[in-house]
Amino acid sequence: MDVQTDFKSLFADALKKSVGEDLWTEEMERLIEQPKNSAYGDLSFPCFQLAKHFRKPPQEIAAKLANAIHDPAFEKVEALGPYVNAFFDRKSFGSRVVNRILREKGNYGSWSFGEGKTIVLDFSSPNIAKPFSMGHLRSTVIGSALANICEKAGYRTVKINHLGDWGTQFGKLISAYKRWGSEEKIKANPIPELFRLYVRFHEEEKANPALTEEGRSWFKRLEDGDEEAVRLWKWFRDVSLEEFQRIYRLLEIGFDEYTGESFYNDKMDAIARQLEEKGLLVTSDQAEVVMLEEEGLPPCLIRKSDGATTYATRDLAAGVYRYQTYRFAKALYVVGHEQSVHFKQVFKVLEKMGNPWAKDMVHVPFGLYLKDGKKMSTRKGRVILLEEVLEEAIRQALKNIEAKNPRLENKEEAAKMVGVGAVVFHDLKSHRMNNIEFSLEDMLNFEGETGPYVQYAFARACSVLRKSGEETFAFSGLKDGESWEIVKRLHAFPEKVLQAFNGYDPSVIAKYVLDLAKAFNKYYGAVRILETDEERPSRLALVKAITIVLEEGLRLLGIKAPEQM
Ligand code: ARG
Repeated sequence: MDVQTDFKSLFADALKKSVGEDLWTEEMERLIEQPKNSAYGDLSFPCFQLAKHFRKPPQEIAAKLANAIHDPAFEKVEALGPYVNAFFDRKSFGSRVVNRILREKGNYGSWSFGEGKTIVLDFSSPNIAKPFSMGHLRSTVIGSALANICEKAGYRTVKINHLGDWGTQFGKLISAYKRWGSEEKIKANPIPELFRLYVRFHEEEKANPALTEEGRSWFKRLEDGDEEAVRLWKWFRDVSLEEFQRIYRLLEIGFDEYTGESFYNDKMDAIARQLEEKGLLVTSDQAEVVMLEEEGLPPCLIRKSDGATTYATRDLAAGVYRYQTYRFAKALYVVGHEQSVHFKQVFKVLEKMGNPWAKDMVHVPFGLYLKDGKKMSTRKGRVILLEEVLEEAIRQALKNIEAKNPRLENKEEAAKMVGVGAVVFHDLKSHRMNNIEFSLEDMLNFEGETGPYVQYAFARACSVLRKSGEETFAFSGLKDGESWEIVKRLHAFPEKVLQAFNGYDPSVIAKYVLDLAKAFNKYYGAVRILETDEERPSRLALVKAITIVLEEGLRLLGIKAPEQM
């Protein structure tokens, strides 16, 4: 059981005894609250209801109750106006929190309410033959952190990369390749080269409508399984995926499946048929659509006038497939907010088809990356650029480490953790809907609100533990104010995990580790941790607990914690 609720029931028991067992109700127990300001204690009980019952001023009741409670779990219990305020005995509260962390280690903060249930997460999902955009980076980082948080809540997760590997644009790309492409060039530099062809096609198409027709007919051939079309498409897909894999390797992010849009090719007819059976399919301008007027949404395009399927059709098929395969409790789509209408349409159509689980589908949107206040452009083969961003971050981290700790072994290893961690943390530290300004300098600053700052606090704590020479830790109580601040924060971790889960919001965890790191640095500055006195074992146990929780918090975000840096 949670330590806070532990103490809460102790407080409730004590109140119950003083009020009288027969008068005490569960409703009263629910009135116990946690005061915002710690000057009013750790728990507080308002006496208005009892006052009504006894027909006495609440102040009087509060004073009486406060006087009657003597429980060693509380350092003091005092009345303040109509409230009974209880202050935890720091020693016993701290012991329960810290020793529990030492016992549970990385499992501390886990929940079991998700056990036996599955959450599928659709994230990253870049488009084949196109640069991996900063938006895809956000989706990757946020989605992966959310998957970790779902697992921390007990769920099984299925991480799906819904690759953009199907659609009319591949007809255009094949046509462009047949006209102007070179195998060598693509082999040497796949995505930029493919993207260049695609951009050129678009340019020339404007003056030459025959090209549009040609592209369309290549897509038709692709959908019909034409050998050459399929071979080229597969090749484009493979070389693109290889480039994406490099980024995933750097981030150390993995997927359970790469079932992209093309995976649903043979599953879309069934969708169209069902829609037709339910009378939902309407022909409009030779295209087939589902009207969503009543819902205040534009029509959902199922089949274009030339019979080609759409992005939406594939998402409908994917929804059905995922439910049939995984019976998910929730399906999350971590995709930029500019697609919110698309997901509203898809979820609505699934619901209209009679799928009750459509209500368990959630679009988890996010804002943009900005550079100097403007949307970051991903023109001209920026997949390399994104990799360059990560590599530049690693290079700069290495420089910082060399300046701070020149004798460190495995500098490259640490620099990778710090550089990548910096980029990831920068993304996750503010709420996902906020736009974020891209600045390597801000990301890598050891002093700011950054990943490296948190990692550095962790490494510093590890170094204290190393110096102590201790191997086993036990906490029996500390009296100072700084350590109490830390105990309270350590105690809050499970609650933060819950909050992050409920809001699909990894920033809760990022802000939390930042705050814990700050509290530790303050402690480190104010207290001589290694001093030999009777409190030394408890101080070290506290530091050990901090390292456990910092490491676990960072892990949830997808960031490594280096023991030295
Ligand atoms: N490939 C899409 C894009 O880059 C994102 C796909 C998101 N997932 C989905 N099931 N629609 O915009």
